[in-house]
Amino acid sequence: MSLVDIDPSAVRSGEVRARHKKFLFPSVSPYYGEPLVLEEGSGVWVRDAEGQEYLDCFSGILTLALGHCHPEVNARVQDQLNELGHTSTLYVTEGQVRVAERLAELAPTGLTRSYFTNSGSEAMETAVMAACLYTGRSEIVALRHCYHGRTYLATNLTAHASWRPLASSIAGLHHARAPYLYRSELAGMDEEEAGEIFARDVEEVIVTCTNGRPAAFLAEPILGVGGYIVPPRGYYRRAAEIVRKYGGLFISDEVQTGFGRTGRWWGIDHWEVEPDIMYMAKGIANGFPVGATMAREEIAEAWTAKSISTFGGNPIAMAAAEATLEVMVRENVDVRCAERGVQLRRGLNALQEQYEWIGEVRGMGLMLALELVEDSVTKEPAPARAQAYLEATKEAGVLVGVAGLHGNVVRLAPSMLITETEVEEAIERLGRACKIASAAA
Ligand SMILES: Cc1ncc(COP(=O)(O)O)c(C=O)c1O
Repeated sequence: MSLVDIDPSAVRSGEVRARHKKFLFPSVSPYYGEPLVLEEGSGVWVRDAEGQEYLDCFSGILTLALGHCHPEVNARVQDQLNELGHTSTLYVTEGQVRVAERLAELAPTGLTRSYFTNSGSEAMETAVMAACLYTGRSEIVALRHCYHGRTYLATNLTAHASWRPLASSIAGLHHARAPYLYRSELAGMDEEEAGEIFARDVEEVIVTCTNGRPAAFLAEPILGVGGYIVPPRGYYRRAAEIVRKYGGLFISDEVQTGFGRTGRWWGIDHWEVEPDIMYMAKGIANGFPVGATMAREEIAEAWTAKSISTFGGNPIAMAAAEATLEVMVRENVDVRCAERGVQLRRGLNALQEQYEWIGEVRGMGLMLALELVEDSVTKEPAPARAQAYLEATKEAGVLVGVAGLHGNVVRLAPSMLITETEVEEAIERLGRACKIASAAA
């Protein structure tokens, strides 16, 4: 190869990757053997530093709810930046009040109070603290296979060994069985019956592992990082009943499932139960760092100690959230997710018929996953296949996520504004990646 053959953009990408490796914590580990250096995005499309285009079906981990660089959100942010950039929670801004009012209109009954932070992890911390303060208790029941963030509490609460840098050391956190039908002996059972059996484990944990007085049961309506585990019908209704019987609250983690993603406005809307506390982040501001914790009035009022969040409710973040929520409501993103979700699922089901190593297609709305297995009879998890598939999707020009306890679940969550034609294109690219991954095996 002569010097003239060397692509300068490839050299530059290589340099950026090398500097990333040198100056960031190794735990900041990007996808792919050769990580993508992304430079530009618009809608569902994103371009890397070498000019390659990808159809983004993972949306920066379910965050670009309206796609990359949504013009209305960006315009509002630019205007706000020139008007007032920062205040802290020591001052009142109308933007923050407007977002809180809008959330109170959209949230399940009674959740009228909001506390703004900067991430899902902080929103979770706020929710747990609020539950403990209100109940005067300190034990939390969560679910195995759950993920709740990266803070000290969150990594203790999260139930995946690989996401726990330290041994669990916060007392009072307990884990019930995940309602993971596909990987349980209950697979194939009537859903309501299976839901009841899984929910009884919440009670078993309360009566055997806590002092019988839990502050809360905290769970994701669909377990996201767990691999989009959809609980059987009836599960959350019963689990909430059980925790309430013991005087505890029910907290819904809507960080992944909120804002229409699953085909209903909140993930918990599918499960015929209303939470006492709920928290959200990711899609709320289309990529701007916002976390929000919502609670009933009396729960919020139990928090009398001082609390500031320097950046929480920041005017720029609130402008992004307000514009994002406006577009979401106007565009009926919940309905769009339900409709495009049916289309995408049809495409994924067709792939499952072709490839034995796709063990299950699951999820709701535009939160859909493929669980990859060695074969569909043994259901042996296939993490190497998932890695090969991830590399193959890059080659096919489509971005997806990989998760699950065994690292064998491919996750999809494109922009909620994805069009019918773009979904067709995504299915075509996902299919091409299946061929590439199959040939490589
Ligand atoms: C369900 C859930 N809760 C909480 C979090 C933590 O959010 P963040 O990464 O913004 O701290 C995540 C992040 O992926 C999540 O998926």
